[in-house]
Amino acid sequence: MGSVVYTQPDGTVRELEAEAGQSVMQLATKNGVRGILAQCGGTLSCATCHVYVDETDLADCGPLADFEDDMLDTTAADRLDCSRLSCQVKVGEGQTIRVTIPPTQL
Ligand code: FES
Repeated sequence: MGSVVYTQPDGTVRELEAEAGQSVMQLATKNGVRGILAQCGGTLSCATCHVYVDETDLADCGPLADFEDDMLDTTAADRLDCSRLSCQVKVGEGQTIRVTIPPTQL
């Protein structure tokens, strides 16, 4: 098991337990976390699953693939150095990944 801590733009925090290998997006949509739309269902073609990853957890998120990098240029909210698409971030065993949801996805 691992966990993800989701912080909403208004500061509301929600922590959920994740199965190892589950994506930050899958966990959010399964549990009704607001602000992660994931319109394409994780096929890396919508960028509506954009999150800002806590700087201390970036190394746990795996490498940024070229196609994800390209898609991050299309996000509705500003792209930051800590931006990732949550469908591409998998939670590892024992990991806690902290993310902040941007103010808009569209
Ligand atoms: S869910 Fe569409 S790019 Fe992540």
